[in-house]
Amino acid sequence: VRTQSDYLYRPTIHFSPPTGFMNDPNGLIFDGQTYHLYYQYDPFAPYAGQVHWGHATSTDLYSWQDQPIAIDQTAAGEAYSGCVVLDRDNVSGLFPAQKAGGPSETHAQGPVTATQAAIDALKPSLGKTSSDVPLSPENMDALGPSNSAPFGHVFDPPTTNDLPPVTPPTPTLPPMAGGLVALYTRATPQKQTQYLAWSPDGGKRFIDYEHNPVLDIGLNSFRDPKVFWHEPSGKWVMVVVKSRAHKVAFYGSIDLKHWMHLSDFGPAGLFGVDYECPNLIELPVEEEGKSTRWVLFVSVNPGAPQGGSVTQYFVGDFDGERFIPENTVIGLTDFAKDSYAMQVYENLPASEALYFAWFGNWQYCEEVPNRSWRGLMTVPRTLSLRRDDMNWLRLVQRPKGLEQLRGEPIPFKVGRIGAQSGVQVSIPTGQAIELSLTVTVDERKNPQPDGNKGRAGRFLIVFSNGQGESLSIGFDAFSAQLWLDRGDLHGFSQPFFTERFSTPLTANSRRFSMKIVLDACALEIFVNDGLSVGTALVFPSSPLDTLSLQATNAGATVENLSLYPLRKTMDR
Ligand code: FRU
Repeated sequence: VRTQSDYLYRPTIHFSPPTGFMNDPNGLIFDGQTYHLYYQYDPFAPYAGQVHWGHATSTDLYSWQDQPIAIDQTAAGEAYSGCVVLDRDNVSGLFPAQKAGGPSETHAQGPVTATQAAIDALKPSLGKTSSDVPLSPENMDALGPSNSAPFGHVFDPPTTNDLPPVTPPTPTLPPMAGGLVALYTRATPQKQTQYLAWSPDGGKRFIDYEHNPVLDIGLNSFRDPKVFWHEPSGKWVMVVVKSRAHKVAFYGSIDLKHWMHLSDFGPAGLFGVDYECPNLIELPVEEEGKSTRWVLFVSVNPGAPQGGSVTQYFVGDFDGERFIPENTVIGLTDFAKDSYAMQVYENLPASEALYFAWFGNWQYCEEVPNRSWRGLMTVPRTLSLRRDDMNWLRLVQRPKGLEQLRGEPIPFKVGRIGAQSGVQVSIPTGQAIELSLTVTVDERKNPQPDGNKGRAGRFLIVFSNGQGESLSIGFDAFSAQLWLDRGDLHGFSQPFFTERFSTPLTANSRRFSMKIVLDACALEIFVNDGLSVGTALVFPSSPLDTLSLQATNAGATVENLSLYPLRKTMDR
């Protein structure tokens, strides 16, 4: 049964599942032609129920094609979060000779250094492996599909009887020795272990390795493996969390099947209950030539300063064995509440670092007003580092590829806005909009000693409707802080659905720049070219159709303003 909320809050440019409940992005990989987006998914429940891996594919990161369930819940447990890597050379030995399917040779950029010979040579050094399986690829030919669950379309109810035999797909792309491999957590209340699975058809479905798990340390809070190829040390590196111990564990492998413990990082960071979904990536430092740093992301739930779930990050170095933070500072990826469990894309150059986060918070994601589908992703965002005005290396996040979605600009000429005045424009409903602007609030002459309100000007960006609802983003020039207020919207209220958030901007500056993307229930704001980011679910009871800019007790100058409707290329 669909309700009005299911339509009203369905975003247009943000990914959301056709039905059911979605949380973390999983297995993000660009295979040379296609972006894959797997995700934590129960196609049949409006809450986090029986977790499968949903799947969608895209060539532009906005127009997504829904694909069948890629990894099922099985008797071994639910399919929790994890990643996909490109085992181009079949170092895992999982891909039967000549039968591999996958992306074309010409575009794929997987690792090329680990061969079977290298694996054999290094075998003794991988003494502390987690399972005891011979590495010979010949043994793998006997591997049949071990996933007994169906791979039907998400709308097909799951059945356990009368399953059609899984026929090996015919490869349509040029042959490659290997293909896509998933590493993910199988979870039961008693145990969380890491599983390996290979895809015979370029990522549509995954077949479990027959000697799973590949990593079992006897814990029931050990999950969310993220694997990448570490070129300098010539091996695969897995980051995974011992979530209740608040530790990130690092493992190394050359064949993706045998994993050796390298080191642990932590406990470090926020208190909280569970550490989840770690990611480690080397990022460029903007404006500093070839300088880079390794950034370790760890999601924490619950325990966010804002409440519920949040993603923290550490800046430092990774030497192939351990992560060494540069200092003890913890960064947060967001100043609002609804960006969680981010995952970076695999198989992209570091200069194009890209991620999706789940647009939600565990405190209220299972109670939001839309019900037939729940959960969305952020827009795709690039990642880099930049020094802020205090010389701290900070994360920079920018939306990627909005330009391609822009329709005709909405005319809105604004230059000066006098004190105590404002300007407004109608905005289209039923589609996403992008607003960009730079604002300098006037210095207030003869400041009045009349309390906070009088100290300096405030500048407001307000989205509203005729029902008296408003969503405002405001800047206080005296303290150089920004706020976001979703409290005057009437579509949803819940004890944890916090109404207001704030963040400091450049100290002592009356100027800021901002890009806002508003798309049904999704509000994302990128301030000062991505140095501060706020991600917030918003639930107006009817669409917001008016945008106004208002100055309080000091005037302001608005520059570089642009306002666009955004549409997926598919919908044009
Ligand atoms: C994070 C998380 C992960 C887990 C998954 C289960 O949101 O709790 O730790 O793998 O969701 O759906």
